[in-house]
This record gives sequence, structure tokens and C-alpha cells, in this order.
Amino acid sequence: MTLKNPLDMHLHLRENPILKCVAPHSIRNFRAAVIMPNLVPPVCDLTRLKDYKTQILQADEDENFTPLMTLFFKDYDEKFLQNIKDEIFAIKLYPAGITTNSQAGVSSFELEKLKPVLNAMSELEIPLLVHGETNDFVMDREQNFAKIYELLAKNFPKLKIVMEHITTKTLCELLKDYENLYATLTLHHLMLTLDDVLGAKLNPHLFCKPIAKRYEDKEALCELAFSGYSKIMFGSDSAPHPREQKECCGCAAGIFSAPVILPLLAELFEAHSNLENLQKFISDNACQIYHFNFKKDKIISLEKQEWQVPSHYGELVPFMAGELLKFQIKNVD
Ligand code: DOR
Ligand code: ZN
Repeated sequence: MTLKNPLDMHLHLRENPILKCVAPHSIRNFRAAVIMPNLVPPVCDLTRLKDYKTQILQADEDENFTPLMTLFFKDYDEKFLQNIKDEIFAIKLYPAGITTNSQAGVSSFELEKLKPVLNAMSELEIPLLVHGETNDFVMDREQNFAKIYELLAKNFPKLKIVMEHITTKTLCELLKDYENLYATLTLHHLMLTLDDVLGAKLNPHLFCKPIAKRYEDKEALCELAFSGYSKIMFGSDSAPHPREQKECCGCAAGIFSAPVILPLLAELFEAHSNLENLQKFISDNACQIYHFNFKKDKIISLEKQEWQVPSHYGELVPFMAGELLKFQIKNVD
């Protein structure tokens, strides 16, 4: 099985020393990745952004990888955005305090306040990536954010709005209602429900934001991915946290999936769909949405050969630690 130019449209790489440990998994096996800006402090200016990009490129030697950099959403003025436009891929909006390192996020979705920056982004064709959760009851947070997505989609029709890591049937349906709404979908949300996280014994390594939801939600997500639906892009949301911050009281949200992504997707699509739709999900849809045109392609070959996912990579516990997977990456060209 071969995949052309896999893209991870939502990735957390952190900074050194974690960066050094996690980045090679993505750099080697993906053609490009959209890099999240929720560092401490967040990526809000050109100096920090360039420095971060350099750190990423130095984490591994593969030249055929493009980090697509993002800025942390703020009330930037148009001049600033004009100057930085060529250095960034998109801007990521977090509601304040909703997840890891998002304290500096947006605390009010009053349209008047958001208008200047969103109009400027529309004008400059800078996509808006959104972590869509409210502060309500945890299982309702994403579906209750739907009204904000609608408000944004209606008021900024020329703005590309990406609903990040969707987990509910509600958002699967919303995606079809507005031309300018797109979505990313993780590997873990194709596989998990809340039952896996805490239905039997609590598994902190499966705790993430947004939390995995109900069976019917997972089914709706699988239906979109496995059918190759054109407005859905793969975004792993691989989000490493050291073991001591996961296996403790006050467990950090995030699943470190980077080491297992392509083998597991191959296994899932082989069982439920086909290779053509995996190619759409992992690359072609995003290439169409963003008009990507890579000078040099990256071809990944996978073979059917069982392997066991390591129990840890340094101080990081990966998704599916200790489990047997059916596919292995054989070659990268
Ligand atoms: O589970 C998550 N982890 N969700 C997020 O939105 C952020 C991420 C992180 O940065 O750890
Ligand atoms: Zn994320």
C-alpha cells in the first residue's frame, strides 16, 4: 500500500526536549504538518514563530517536510497580518482556558470585537482554525459551540473556517450546511468513545479535549472519513505530555498518536473502506481545499507486517502502547 504526500493538518510538537523526541515521527512520515501555536508563551509574533520553525526543522534531517506555521489568535491589526502573511499558514483560535495553554484565548465571541481581525483575515485569505468548545457540561461543549460556528460562517462568508478535531454528529451535519466550513478529524476519535476513556478503568492516556463522545458520534465521524468526504481532512492532534503529567491527579489532556498514525489508518481503512478514500482523507482533500502543490512528492509504502507499539518513547506513552498493529511503514521515498 502506498500513500502520496500524507498531511497532518493539526499537530502539537511542543519545544525541546520533547520536540526532539516527537518531531521525527511526523517529519519522516508526512509531507507537511500544521503546527499548533499553544506553547508557553503562545506563538504571537514573527520572532517567536521563526525561532520555533527553526527548532522544528533542526529536530530531524528530512528536507522533504514542510512545517505549516500558525499564530495564536489575538486582535492583530491588518498591517501586522499583511507583514506576516507569507510566514504563516493560518491562525488558531482557542476559547480562553478551554484546553492546554489556552489561557490567552478568546473570552468573548461578540461579533463587533472579532470583526476587525476576521475581516482582515478574510481579505488576506488567512484561514481560521478553531478549537470549538464552550464551557458547558463536558459532553455538550462541542455541540453547543455549533451556534458560534454558524455565526462565524454566516458573517465571514469568504473566510475559510476549520472546525478542528470534530467529535460529534452535530458538527458532521453542520459541515454540510456552510460552504466555508471545513473540518479536521483525528485518528483517536475514529476509534474511541467515552467508554474507552472511563467506562471500565480510567485510562489517562486516552484523555483529550474534546473528550471522545458516544457511539453514534463515532459512527458519524467514521462515515465521513471512510467515504472520503471532500471537506474532511486528517489532523492527528497528536499532543504529547510526559508520563508524570498524564498518570497523576490533574491529568493533562492530549493523546500522543504520532508514532502509530499511518499504520493504524491503513488498518482502519482496509477494514472499513478502501485505499482511495484513505488517500483523500490523508492528503488529497487538504490539497484541494488549500491548493497545495508540492515541488517534491513524498511516497510512503506500508506493508502487512505485525509489530508491537513500544510501551514508551522516553517519558512519553504513545497511543496503543503495547498493542499489536497489522501494518508497518516499509519505505519513505
Ligand atoms: O487534548 C488536547 N491536547 N486537546 C487540545 O486541544 C490541546 C492539546 C494539547 O496541546 O495538549
Ligand atoms: Zn490540538
